[in-house]
Amino acid sequence: MTELSATRLIIDTDTAGDDAFSILLALKAPHVRLEAITICNGNVPFEQQIENALYTLEVAGASGQVPVWPGCPLPMLRKPVDATEFFGADGMSDANFPKARQRPEAGHAVDFLIDTIMSNPGEIEILAQAPLTNIATAYVKEPRIAKNLKHLWVMGGLDNSLGNTTPASEFNFYVDPEAAKIVVNAGFRLTLSTWTLTMKSGLLPDAALARIEAMDTPLSRFFMTISQAPFKRTAQRYGRPLSTHPDSLTCACLIDPAVMLETADCLVDVETQGELTRAYSSICTPLTPEEALIDKLWYADPPNARVIRRADTDRFAAMLIAALA
Ligand code: BDR
Ligand code: CA
Repeated sequence: MTELSATRLIIDTDTAGDDAFSILLALKAPHVRLEAITICNGNVPFEQQIENALYTLEVAGASGQVPVWPGCPLPMLRKPVDATEFFGADGMSDANFPKARQRPEAGHAVDFLIDTIMSNPGEIEILAQAPLTNIATAYVKEPRIAKNLKHLWVMGGLDNSLGNTTPASEFNFYVDPEAAKIVVNAGFRLTLSTWTLTMKSGLLPDAALARIEAMDTPLSRFFMTISQAPFKRTAQRYGRPLSTHPDSLTCACLIDPAVMLETADCLVDVETQGELTRAYSSICTPLTPEEALIDKLWYADPPNARVIRRADTDRFAAMLIAALA
C-alpha cells in the first residue's frame, strides 16, 4: 500500500448510527488526527447527538482526547427535520447508553471552525456528514475559510438517482437546502459522496456483517447494537435488512484514497425553490469531449466538486472490520 499522508481532520456530524462508525474509522486510522468533532442539527434531537458523539469517543477509548463542539441546532431557514424513524429516538436504536464522562466544549462550533481553519491555512480537512448548516454559517461569517481549508469532504445529495428522503432528495441536503447551496458554491476544494454512491458501494456485504457479529469485541457489539433500528427500517423499505454506510464510506475515502475507484469533476448545484424537488442536487458530468464543450458554453463555470462515482466496498469493509477489532 502506498504511504498515506498525515491528515488533520474535523468531523462535522449529526451523530446517529453510521455517523458513529465514521468517527471510529477516523480514530483508528494511524495517520489521521481527529482534532475535533462539531455537531450540527439533523438526525435526532440536538442534545442527544452531542451525547452520541461523546459516548462514541468513550466506547472507543478516546474519552477526553477529542473536543466536541455544539454548533447550529436549527437549519438556516427551514423547520427542523429528523431521522428518528430510521435510527430510533436516541439515534442509537434506542440503546439508551449511559452518559459519557466527557462533556461538550463551552464555545460554538462555528467560531471554533473559523478560528481553527484561519490559524492553520491549508492544513485542516473537514468531513461534513450532516446537514451543512455549520459549514455554511462559518463560510458566511468568514468567507476566507473556503480557500484556507485544505479539503472539504461532504456526504450529501444524489447523483441522478432516487433519494432516501423524497424521490428527489437525500437527507443531509433536504434538511438544509440553503446551507447546501451556499457550501457547494463557496469555492471549497470539495469532494462529494452522495446517497447514490452509498447504494452502489456503501452497503456492507453479508459476509462482512457476519464477521463483525462473530468478532464479539466491545466495538463490534456497539456496531451491532446501534445497527438494529436501521436493519428493521431497511428491511421494511428494501425487502431485506441493509447495512448502509453513507458517512463511514466517505470517511474511508478520505482515510485511504484507494477506496475511491472512480471520480468525476462535476458542476454541482442545489435546488432551493422547487416544491417537489426541494434540495435536488443537480450534478452535471461531461461524458464526452463534445458534451464537455457544451457544459462549458452552457454553464461558463468550471466544475466545483469531485464526485465519487464508485468505491471499493471490500476495501471499505476491511477497514471497518479492522476498526472494530
Ligand atoms: C445521511 O443522512 C443521515 O441520516 C445520515 O447520517 C447520513 O449522513 C444519509 O442520507
Ligand atoms: Ca450523518
